[in-house]
Amino acid sequence: MLLDTHTSEIEAILGRYASKRSAVLPLLYIAQDSYGHLTDKAIREVATILDMPHTDVYEVVGFYTLFYNKPMGAWVLQVCDDVPCCYLGAEELITALKDTLGIVEEQTTGDGLFTLQRVKCLAACNRAPVLQANLDYVYEVTPARVGALLDSLRSRVAEAKQRGVSGRFAEDYAFGPDGALVQIERPAETVAAPAAPVAEEVALVAEEVALVAEEVASVAEEVASVAEEAQAQAEEASPTQLAPDGSPAGEMPKPETVTGGDAIPAHAAQQEPPAEPSEEKPAQAGDRSPL
Ligand code: FES
Repeated sequence: MLLDTHTSEIEAILGRYASKRSAVLPLLYIAQDSYGHLTDKAIREVATILDMPHTDVYEVVGFYTLFYNKPMGAWVLQVCDDVPCCYLGAEELITALKDTLGIVEEQTTGDGLFTLQRVKCLAACNRAPVLQANLDYVYEVTPARVGALLDSLRSRVAEAKQRGVSGRFAEDYAFGPDGALVQIERPAETVAAPAAPVAEEVALVAEEVALVAEEVASVAEEVASVAEEAQAQAEEASPTQLAPDGSPAGEMPKPETVTGGDAIPAHAAQQEPPAEPSEEKPAQAGDRSPL
């Protein structure tokens, strides 16, 4: 049972996800590496661990080409037959493998050691022709190197060295000067390389944004100056409005010429002077007649 043989690994994987279902792919990798392929029993076991309907797990297995629900060879040889690898001899390599192993694509050798498949670009075109042996990368595999490759893979099976069927233990291999297959370190820059272009791109975008902002500011300045000019022209063109006293609107009325005393506003000067008080008193009730 996977839970007995991989207890801590499975617990660590489940701890990474809020929902158990999310762990379906890593658990299927463990099952495939443990059982060689995903049997009905293995799929149901994974479904039980994840509290999922086993039909859902079957669907996942059917969807991904790197999950195998039928017996495969101890080594699944996937040869890239995309354009760059083809230019450098992928077809000749496939023919050499078929002739040496006595099988065609999608078949497994009688001893159960090798299954042969064609795949599309493996993203290692600079070292074509490329193949994967259980997802271990093997670079620059020419027909002349097929013998050394198969011998090396056979001896790894005989020595019971760890071989992942899922790519969990994927390594890199190349042929040494003596023609033997040797494990190589995956270059660190393979992982670090994307950082520089991304940073460069971010800097370029920032520069572009600054340029656009500058342009927007200059357009805004132009718009403000045009608006100012338009306002000045409108003020010049509009007819003079007169205030009630005849002076232009907004201007203070002019004071009268001062001849002594306080100045009298023009509008006040046009009014009738107040009536002089009469010297005769009006007769009132109770007044005695002089007679
Ligand atoms: S074309 Fe073969 S690795 Fe890209």
